[in-house]
Amino acid sequence: MKVQLKPSTCLAPLPAVIVTCGDETENNAITLAWAGTVNAEPPIVTIAVRHSRFSLGLIERHGEFTVNLMEPSMVRAVDTCGITSGRDVDKFAAAGLTRGHGMGVKCPHLEESPLSLECKVINRVDLPTHAVFFGEVVDVLAREEIVRNGRPVPEALLSYANGIYRATGDALGTYGFTGKVIKK
Ligand SMILES: Cc1cc2nc3c(=O)[nH]c(=O)nc-3n(C[C@H](O)[C@H](O)[C@H](O)COP(=O)(O)O)c2cc1C
Repeated sequence: MKVQLKPSTCLAPLPAVIVTCGDETENNAITLAWAGTVNAEPPIVTIAVRHSRFSLGLIERHGEFTVNLMEPSMVRAVDTCGITSGRDVDKFAAAGLTRGHGMGVKCPHLEESPLSLECKVINRVDLPTHAVFFGEVVDVLAREEIVRNGRPVPEALLSYANGIYRATGDALGTYGFTGKVIKK
């Protein structure tokens, strides 16, 4: 039997990422779970940033952001960037994170992230609580060890569901495995 609950966004698991924003002189790092994939060519991702966040003004002013995927070992840094504000602290110092120079954007990425998506803002949609930024991915920076045939294949990433951080789980199959003809 199922019980009826009040409407909410229950999609899970979500990626627990750190989005960096700003440029070389003013920048910040914000933890986000509401990040999504919305277009293939060109590659476009979205981030939903609550109107009250300090990061929102930086993203709006500079028109860029970088989505840094995080490994389970960085869970403390992810949490720190999600409970402190750039208004009050230097989160890079507080969370032990290192700014890397952007390649296709002025926004720094995180050296500690295995995979960083550098994005330029192409659209913004304001919803009642959150601003949704659409970012065209202009560069993908991947740690060498996770690249297989030119594609990033990170072993385990950090996810978030119902207030709990988790490591992504066991591999259960590969894309399209059910359609493969099994030769005897
Ligand atoms: C796991 C986790 C996920 C979060 N996801 C979001 C999100 O998707 N959007 C958002 O606006 N804030 C999200 N937050 C809250 C912000 O990270 C938090 O309010 C942060 O302090 C804002 O930083 P800033 O003021 O420096 O921009 C999340 C926090 C945590 C811990």
